[in-house]
Amino acid sequence: MAARLLRIEAAVFALITIYISCKAQFPTESSIKTWTKDLKQSLDEYVSNVLGEAQLQQSYNSYDASKVQWKAVNGEDLVEETANKLGLEVLGKKIEALKKSVKAAEEIAAISPKDDSLTIDNYKFNNAKTLDKSTLAYSPKFGKGINETISSVHIPVEIYYGDKDILNGLKWTEGLDDVWKQNAEDDPNLLWQYFGGQKGFLRSYPANAWTEAKPDLYDVRRRPWYTQGSSSPKNMMILVDTSGSTTGEALQLMKETVKQLLETLGENDFVAVANYSKTEEIQDTVRYVSECFQGFVQATHRNKQVLKEAVMDLQASGMAKWEDALEFAFKAFKEFEQDEKNSSMNNVGADCNRIIMVLTDGATAKDEAATVLNRENPDKRIRIFTYAIGKTAAAIEAVRWLACKNRGYFSKIPAMGAIRTTVQEHVAVVARPLVLQSRAYIQESDVYEDALVWWQLVNSQVM
Ligand SMILES: *[C@@H]1O[C@H](CO)[C@@H](O)[C@H](O)[C@H]1NC(C)=O
Ligand SMILES: *[C@@H]1O[C@H](CO)[C@@H](O)[C@H](O)[C@H]1NC(C)=O
Ligand SMILES: *[C@@H]1O[C@H](CO)[C@@H](O)[C@H](O)[C@H]1NC(C)=O
Repeated sequence: MAARLLRIEAAVFALITIYISCKAQFPTESSIKTWTKDLKQSLDEYVSNVLGEAQLQQSYNSYDASKVQWKAVNGEDLVEETANKLGLEVLGKKIEALKKSVKAAEEIAAISPKDDSLTIDNYKFNNAKTLDKSTLAYSPKFGKGINETISSVHIPVEIYYGDKDILNGLKWTEGLDDVWKQNAEDDPNLLWQYFGGQKGFLRSYPANAWTEAKPDLYDVRRRPWYTQGSSSPKNMMILVDTSGSTTGEALQLMKETVKQLLETLGENDFVAVANYSKTEEIQDTVRYVSECFQGFVQATHRNKQVLKEAVMDLQASGMAKWEDALEFAFKAFKEFEQDEKNSSMNNVGADCNRIIMVLTDGATAKDEAATVLNRENPDKRIRIFTYAIGKTAAAIEAVRWLACKNRGYFSKIPAMGAIRTTVQEHVAVVARPLVLQSRAYIQESDVYEDALVWWQLVNSQVM
């Protein structure tokens, strides 16, 4: 108790200090004392009211059997009860709401043919950036002004609003309002409901104004919940060319590209990062970047952090040997899959995408690589994506060939600015099989770091 009071006093003092430091005229000592006393008293009252301290102390001292009871609590039961509550009542209801939204979206999309006559002049939508604030009412639950009769839309700055695909997307997703309203009624604890479109728009219910964030860099397609939700689980091997030619800027670009690639992965994915180059001194021409991870690891926040740090330390020397790097990757996939089969754990990676990302500043001989590919990946079971990194990336033809021959995608990353968007492109490619399998997935994205930054930028929304 004494300690708490002391702390409160300290807080009061800090408050006063901050207050007076902004004032031009210094208040008298006696008025500071009065303020401190008043503030301390009301804080004291507030804290003890909230904690029910006095009542507890009284009951305890008088040992009033009608008020105080001793009861043994089984910790495990308590945890189980809490877990059930969380699972069924909290998450269960959210999943139910999500399923209803997905079903409605599929049904509405199926009966909404593309309408080429739509233009910005004849079709009006509730743009979150220009929403009339007088149509919003402050909601304590959402922590900002909302309108529960409609949803509102965010479109990234670089997208032209009049694009036919955007307008058509906006039009059919209006139909989601009804199911969202119903969901909100069914579960009073439900907060925001969103739809992220592949063309880049975000629809959110209830309608609210887009605030604060300037410049507005938000693009739903780059948010973790979108990227993780729209692609199926994957095992990804990232191969970084650390040959002597990739010094300076190219090496920096590679490191940043690896970081951004890791950001597209979530806890349903597995990842390995290796660097390759051949020098006189070292025997092995390909090596995992982190000593701790000799193979695939789950792409958890912590593991990704370890990998990012290891990548930052990479230095360049020697010559790049593609064929060794590919051989290394295929072997790693085989071992990983064997381990997965043996393990009694659920077969997480069993039917997921297998991807090799090759980051290079140019190609070495294509023929040796072709031999390895014919031997190890004849059925193109493992996709290969290639990134030609740096302004001076050479022999790009071969880099492109490697990707195209293996159901992948070739991209150029000439400068820092290109990394983020380019790296996201594989997500769209990898997402396709998920749609074709017509399997409805519910995925939980991991808790992500910068959600809090967005939270500050757009008030109470974490998305
Ligand atoms: C919410 O939006 C609807 C439709 O635009 C409008 O009719 C209504 O007045 C708005 N609500 C408030 C509280 O302004
Ligand atoms: C990978 O990078 C590390 C750190 O720069 C280096 O010591 C090692 O030799 C590299 N391995 C290969 C195979 O290039
Ligand atoms: C997995 O099983 C195979 C065949 O049953 C065996 O050869 C291999 O050593 C096992 N691997 C591990 C890591 O246990």
